[in-house]
Amino acid sequence: MSDETTTPNANFKRRIFSGIQPSGNLTLGNYLGALKRFVEKQNEGIETIYCLVDLHAVTVWQDPEKLRHAIREGAAGFIAAGVDPEKSILFNQSQVGAHAELGWLLNCVARMGWMNRMTQFKDKAGKNAEKASLGLYAYPALMAADILLYHATEVPVGEDQKQHVELTRDIAAKFNHDYKVDFFPQPTPVIEGAATRVMSLRDGTKKMSKSDPSDASRINLTDDADTIAKKIRKAVTDPEPLPETLDGLDGRAEARNLVNIYAALSGKTPAEVLGEYGGAGFGTFKPALADLAVSVMAPINTEMNRLMQDPAEIDRILGKGADKADAIARPILEKTYEIMGMVRSR
Ligand code: AMP
Ligand code: TRP
Repeated sequence: MSDETTTPNANFKRRIFSGIQPSGNLTLGNYLGALKRFVEKQNEGIETIYCLVDLHAVTVWQDPEKLRHAIREGAAGFIAAGVDPEKSILFNQSQVGAHAELGWLLNCVARMGWMNRMTQFKDKAGKNAEKASLGLYAYPALMAADILLYHATEVPVGEDQKQHVELTRDIAAKFNHDYKVDFFPQPTPVIEGAATRVMSLRDGTKKMSKSDPSDASRINLTDDADTIAKKIRKAVTDPEPLPETLDGLDGRAEARNLVNIYAALSGKTPAEVLGEYGGAGFGTFKPALADLAVSVMAPINTEMNRLMQDPAEIDRILGKGADKADAIARPILEKTYEIMGMVRSR
C-alpha cells in the first residue's frame, strides 16, 4: 500500500479526460464503453474534459466535408447521451493548439521501441505499414499529450485503449525523470462495466467498430428504433438456449456479447441477466434485448437529430468548450516549454 507521500498523483487533483475520434458514426460500443461512463463521471461531480479528437482522425484519410459533419454529429451524440456542456468541458481537439504543440514535445520523449509495441498501430496499418502516415505511428504520443496537457488523473476508455494509457504513464515518468521534476501525473485507465469490449453483431470475435464495412455489425447512434430492433433480431447467434451461469458462455462469443450488452444497457451484471434468461432461447432473448436497446438508444437518436438541426449552436458549444480547455492547457504547456529550456519571451 502506498502512503500519501509516495502516491505519484498526490500533488494532483482528480481530473478526468477522454476522447473519441470523429471518424464516422458513433456506435453502441462507443456508447457503452465510453459515453455512458463519461456521463456517470460527470455526474459524480469530478472535473471532466471530453474531446472529439479530430487531429487523431486525420491520421487516416478523411474527406473534409464528412469530417466536419462527423465532428458536429459527434458533439451532438455526446450531448444527446448526457454530456452536459455546462458541467463538462466538451470541445474538438484542433481548436486547442496546445494539443499539437505538446504532442510534438512528447514525440521527443517517447522512444521508437515503445511505439513499435503499439498493437493499434499494427492493426490499423495492417500489412502495408510503409504506406501508413507518420501521424498514425505517432498517434499514441499525441494521445499522451491530450491527457497530460490537463494533468488528468483518470482516463475512462474501452479495453482497446489500455495500452495507450499505459504508454502515457511511461512518457510522463520519463519526462519527470529526465527533467528531475514531478510535473506530470501518472494517469490511470478506467475500464469498468460489462461492456468494455462490445463485439460485432455479425462476428463475436471482432470488436464492434465504426469502420467495419458491414453496417449490420453495429448499432449506430444515428440508427432509428426500427433499425436498432432489426439489427438485434438479425444478430448472429448459435442455436443453443442461454446457459444458467457465466461459465456456460465459454466458447460462445456471440451469446456472451449479447448478454454483456443486455447487462450494460440495463445496469445489471451478466450473471443477473443469466439468472433471468438462463434456459431461454434467442427467440425470447433477442426481442427482449431489442426492446431494451430501443428504449435506451432511440431517445438518444431523437435528441441527436434535434441538435443536428442547429449546427451553429453546436459550433458555439464547441468553441466555448475550447476556450475553457485552452485556459487549463496553455499554462501547463508553457510550463513544459520552460522545464525543457525554451525561451518564452512573449
Ligand atoms: P474510437 O471510436 O476508437 O475513437 O473509440 C472511442 C472510445 O470508445 C474509446 O474509449 C474506445 O475504447 C471505446 N470503444 C470503441 N469501440 C468500442 C467497443 N466495441 N466496445 C467498447 N468500447 C469501445
Ligand atoms: N485513441 C483513442 C481511440 O482511438 C481516442 C483518444 C485520443 C483518446 N486521445 C485520447 C482517448 C485521450 C482517451 C484519452 O479510441
